[in-house]
Amino acid sequence: MQHHKRPPASILFIFGGSGDLNYRKLTPALYNLFLDEWMPEQFAIVGIGRTEYTSENYRAHLQEGISKFSRRKAEANGHYKEFFEHVNYLQLDAGDIESYQRIAEYVQTKEQEWGTHPNVIFYLAVAPQLVPSIAQELGTLNLCKDKSTTRIVIEKPFGHDLASAHELNDLLTGLFAEEQIFRIDHYLGKETVQNILALRFANALFEPVWNRHYIDHIQITAAESVGLEGRGGYYEHSGALRDMVQNHILQLMCMVAMEAPVSFDANEIRNKKVDVLNAIRPIKKEDVHESAVRGQYGDGWMKGKQVTGYRQEKGVDPLSNTETYAAVKFYVDNWRWQGVPFYVRTGKLMHQKSTHITIQFKDAPTFAFPSEAAESWRSNRLTISIQPEMDIRIRFQAKRPGQTMTLDPVNMTFNYEGSDDHTPEAYETLLLDVMEGDATLFMRADQVEAAWKVIMPILETWEHRSPQDFPNYVPDSWGPEDADALIARDGHSWINLPPTR
Ligand code: BG6
Repeated sequence: MQHHKRPPASILFIFGGSGDLNYRKLTPALYNLFLDEWMPEQFAIVGIGRTEYTSENYRAHLQEGISKFSRRKAEANGHYKEFFEHVNYLQLDAGDIESYQRIAEYVQTKEQEWGTHPNVIFYLAVAPQLVPSIAQELGTLNLCKDKSTTRIVIEKPFGHDLASAHELNDLLTGLFAEEQIFRIDHYLGKETVQNILALRFANALFEPVWNRHYIDHIQITAAESVGLEGRGGYYEHSGALRDMVQNHILQLMCMVAMEAPVSFDANEIRNKKVDVLNAIRPIKKEDVHESAVRGQYGDGWMKGKQVTGYRQEKGVDPLSNTETYAAVKFYVDNWRWQGVPFYVRTGKLMHQKSTHITIQFKDAPTFAFPSEAAESWRSNRLTISIQPEMDIRIRFQAKRPGQTMTLDPVNMTFNYEGSDDHTPEAYETLLLDVMEGDATLFMRADQVEAAWKVIMPILETWEHRSPQDFPNYVPDSWGPEDADALIARDGHSWINLPPTR
């Protein structure tokens, strides 16, 4: 086991302790941190919810979640007992002011027991409409005035549009200092996403060509093969643009497009990222139809199984205009990226689960080879696969072995070694960062608002103009034809990666 410094003593209160996010993601992540000896020497996890549970039942419920969703499964069973000694349940009505005193009392008890003042982390894994009132009540507790040890974690969606995100920021920053607020975008915790910074800024090779002089265009795909997974009630009021583009995809775009940070200080990195968002060319409402395409899946077949159309899903309006697919073309108006299109797309029930970024380089400036040498010639391309493949591929030309000069495109691939089991899940990284008080991988208030600003013209235009062709793509496809046309107008096509395993 590698030796590392564990975070200081911490208590994590999880609002929404009986909910799905905790069951599928948070507890399994905390359990793996525990196994890897990343949890503090002294820690307590307290689930808070309205459902009635004895601590025993609660632990059994979460243990089931771990056995279903943890990256490590059977072999780790032996450690459940030690882990769950740290886990308790507090049945509270989040609307009842008195309840919050019980939280303060719990902290005091632990403080005395441990002989040290611990970090106190409030994780709000609740429906977005509950966030303001919980935050407000927490804000009245004395312990929240401690800027260095008390933190609040806010899940997405962060607002429903620019105005509501701004309002939520106002509320939170009125109650807590910015360094106490951790706004989660779980994509930033993914190993392969963090590796974008290593690739770009720890190598001298890429940065000199990472600009408009050498790059033709960039594509970002976040295709999901799953559908709504029972989340119709939420998704119907969200849609692909809010659910994936405003946060995850724009964050990936920032990682690819940002300038080199001077240090790894949280604010320095976030400043460089927000510069990208602020440089994205605003899309005029009258141009939305040229720059953005929306789609909604109908019924059909997915890998041999019949699936219902979006409008027939539970919790969805039978005449719904909510998009389950979105593709957008952005430009970043700065010296590095002027004129380089960034094509992004995301969708549910797509042919293949695949999140990847493609940097398409320009053609070689001159070409000395005879034309017959270069029949299968292709320009250079760098592909960063985020998931499920975790690799980086560089395509370049090589001579085909033999007596004639014939060129072939070949790939050089770096693959993360080992299986997925050994790679920490995004939530592990992020929870550890919260305990350590490192906000680098979290969204700052201005970042969230800048990202909303980018998509507002599209959202507003789509809201006011009903789509005429929904549903316009079938499950197990690559989305609507209009999305192909969007990129074909510029002489390109979407790049779908063949899976490597
Ligand atoms: C969430 C979205 O933020 O990200 C979901 O709300 C989506 O709709 C999910 O399925 C995708 O995350 P991942 O890590 O599976 O790519």
